[in-house]
Amino acid sequence: MKVLFVCLGNICRSPTADGVFRKLVTEANLADQVEVDSAGTAAWHVGKAPDPRSQEYAWDRGYDLSGLRARQVSVEDFERFDLLLAMDDENYSNLMAMCPEGMSGKVKKLLSFGTLSPNADVPDPYYGGAQGFQHVLDLVEDACHQLLSEIKRGLK
Ligand code: 4NP
Repeated sequence: MKVLFVCLGNICRSPTADGVFRKLVTEANLADQVEVDSAGTAAWHVGKAPDPRSQEYAWDRGYDLSGLRARQVSVEDFERFDLLLAMDDENYSNLMAMCPEGMSGKVKKLLSFGTLSPNADVPDPYYGGAQGFQHVLDLVEDACHQLLSEIKRGLK
């Protein structure tokens, strides 16, 4: 099972989801069965580490994002990954617009797995304050727990 988290810049929301889900997968001893990655629909920040604010607030909750580097999502990602999880409606639309035929079933919103605000957006925290980054973590942690439960059921 291969999961790709997708946001706009790949420096705030999707690296957060990447770090959170990677830790859950590792703790569940599933790292050899579940591959985790993240990407952005835009190319502005390619090669950069996650935003220092995302890194700091994630670190406070036990997630290390420091090794991640931004990249742009590509058409090959639809072949390579089983699930492409968009953070918001804009990311979802952009993925659908570049999705090869027959692959659209792999594209979902991350919060379709969440219980806090089912199918809502993970709001972009980039231009806001600390609260926005904490909110991203709250939404992402909840959805990633549910996502792992669903994947575990499928792996059985
Ligand atoms: P992300 O946040 O999509 O969660 O990585 C953003 C990062 C940068 C920008 C927008 C959103 N930006 O406009 O540069």
